[in-house]
Amino acid sequence: MPLTVNEIARLLKVRGVSQYGREPVSQLEHALQCAHLAEQAGASTALTVAALLHDLGHLLAAERDNRADDDLSCDDLHQYIALPFLRGLLPDAVLEPIRLHVDAKRYLCHAEAGYWDNLSPASKRSLELQGGVFTAFEADQFLQLSFSNDALKLRRWDDLAKVPGLRTPPLAWYTDQLAQVALPDNQAVYQRLRMLLC
Ligand SMILES: [Fe+2]
Repeated sequence: MPLTVNEIARLLKVRGVSQYGREPVSQLEHALQCAHLAEQAGASTALTVAALLHDLGHLLAAERDNRADDDLSCDDLHQYIALPFLRGLLPDAVLEPIRLHVDAKRYLCHAEAGYWDNLSPASKRSLELQGGVFTAFEADQFLQLSFSNDALKLRRWDDLAKVPGLRTPPLAWYTDQLAQVALPDNQAVYQRLRMLLC
């Protein structure tokens, strides 16, 4: 059963106070900056919501393991962790860029001269744990996937969304957009089931 919009908002608000890896912003600041960059670039509502939620897996993994989410000793596979919690609530146009945003980094390191050089030290470290730079074959396979283009856009906003103290619209602005792209039928069914089970 997927999370509800309210549960996602609570997770971002409560767990989001933690530091974003070893970057100089919190998880929530990073999520808001990423969504704000998407919005400024004229992204669809679905892609803006994907930008907001792309690292939700970090928060879920930290909640599950009861640990700080700046642990760089292993890959928490955060791009996959959030998917079962969101599937049924959100369309593929949100889920797929989230799923592919780590592969987008691996692709850009292969395809774009200087991209790797400009990654933060934490991003370079996590790249190694995530499988490293794509080979030419892997890069070609990646480009053939639906939503790889959206994942590449998301990746670039992800890289920029680390500015300490940057002002953005509040979380509520983006959770409204999240509610807009939530699949209405499923949302209603799950809400009713929850009421019956409580
Ligand atoms: Fe991120």
